[in-house]
Amino acid sequence: MEPAIETRGLTRTFGPVRAVDAIDLVVPARRVFGFLGPNGSGKTTTIRLLLGLLRPTAGEARLLGEPAGPGAPVVARVGALVERPAFYPYLSAAENLLVFGVTAGLAEGPLRARVPTLLARVGLADVGERGVGGFSTGMRQRLALALALLREPELLVLDEPTNGLDPAGVVEVRQLIAALAQDGITVFLSTHVLTEVEQLCTDVAVLVRGRIVAQRPTRELLGDGAGIRVRFDSPDQAATAAAALRSAGFVVRDEAPTPVAPGTLATLVVDAPPEAGSHVARLLAGRDLYPAELAPIRPTLEAAFLELTRDPDASRPPGAGARTPGTGER
Ligand SMILES: Nc1ncnc2c1ncn2[C@@H]1O[C@H](COP(=O)(O)OP(=O)(O)O)[C@@H](O)[C@H]1O
Ligand SMILES: [Mg+2]
Repeated sequence: MEPAIETRGLTRTFGPVRAVDAIDLVVPARRVFGFLGPNGSGKTTTIRLLLGLLRPTAGEARLLGEPAGPGAPVVARVGALVERPAFYPYLSAAENLLVFGVTAGLAEGPLRARVPTLLARVGLADVGERGVGGFSTGMRQRLALALALLREPELLVLDEPTNGLDPAGVVEVRQLIAALAQDGITVFLSTHVLTEVEQLCTDVAVLVRGRIVAQRPTRELLGDGAGIRVRFDSPDQAATAAAALRSAGFVVRDEAPTPVAPGTLATLVVDAPPEAGSHVARLLAGRDLYPAELAPIRPTLEAAFLELTRDPDASRPPGAGARTPGTGER
């Protein structure tokens, strides 16, 4: 299947600022793709380039297999939420969709017929006749998503869709995005919130100062630091356990050497997925070794992100495995 989004060397400068710096982005179809980066890293600029709202300084972008850029016809097949739409507060949700749809050039008859379906799709069926002025932040954003869905797009491009929402609104909108993805729409969303990527995104690209420092499935990015931490009462036990685990084929690394004070536990880290915990416990018990603690290490995206962004000048920090899918580069 053709990627939903593909860019090559996409670049945009503003005077001396390289807001987007030669990015190669590949967004596979039918994924929820997180475009993660701190404020000012170039997320909105990239999205504006993709949607043809801005002309690139260099490079190119393709959406759904077609060229993108100012005036590109493919944009009609893409639903977008870049800026908060300013809804008419005294009009109902349904009336707002109608007004915005007609203004966007859609025929009123078919649109009127679709509005109830759209409202139901974003979970606003019950409040469709209510004035938008009384809506919560989450309800407003769901209405904005209904607007992005007006043309039944194959691809949704959302710029920080939960930014500025109250906590309940954040949950509502994340659930809605997950539901839309279940329906088979490709979702590309930018965010500076790591938990959003962890909860929602199958894939992630990390943007730092206009450059992509990593691009991979979220699971892989998280998988790098996974392991099982095993603590023992004495360094002797730990050493015996390490030998036993190694002879059983496990890769054992000693925990990052913080100075061990007398009486502290001796710790090993086994390079294995958390599910292997019971296997490790059984193996140790078979050797009469009983750890004081055995716990999975579930790395957070936050740790991975900090690792990726540690060196300010490196576009490929050590251990990041920064790859550019689709180009075969190493
Ligand atoms: N229209 C513009 N004129 C000048 N500089 C801009 C413009 N738009 C964005 N920038 C600059 O480009 C960089 C990236 O901005 P932006 O794409 O908005 O980042 P993000 O959306 O990740 O917060 C920032 O340094 C910002 O100041
Ligand atoms: Mg932005």
